Amino acid sequence: MVKEKYLKKFNGDAKALKKYLYQTIRKGSSGKWFNFLDMKMPSHPQIKEEEMKVIVDYIASIPEPEKGK
Ligand code: HEM
Repeated sequence: MVKEKYLKKFNGDAKALKKYLYQTIRKGSSGKWFNFLDMKMPSHPQIKEEEMKVIVDYIASIPEPEKGK
């Protein structure tokens, strides 16, 4: 879901997607997913750079779920 939503926004630019994910996870986020019960995702200043790369690469690799499953 995340991948498809933002790949569209960035015209299929995988690098822009990863940069965007990086910033979202580092700084936190709110209001992007139907205002999820007014919840905010907290920032994560403590995550190491190597770990950030693994997390971002993983999220960017998750495909869209098959319909009806
Ligand atoms: C390493 C830990 C985490 C990762 C990798 C992660 C990743 C993500 C990603 C990729 C999104 C989508 C952001 C977007 O669409 O721009 C998201 C949204 C969100 N996350 Fe996390 N998250 C983490 C930890 C947390 C924690 C600890 C909380 C709450 C205690 C949290 C709460 C939320 C909420 C509420 C949203 C929706 C925010 C919005 O609507 O803008 N996340 N997260």
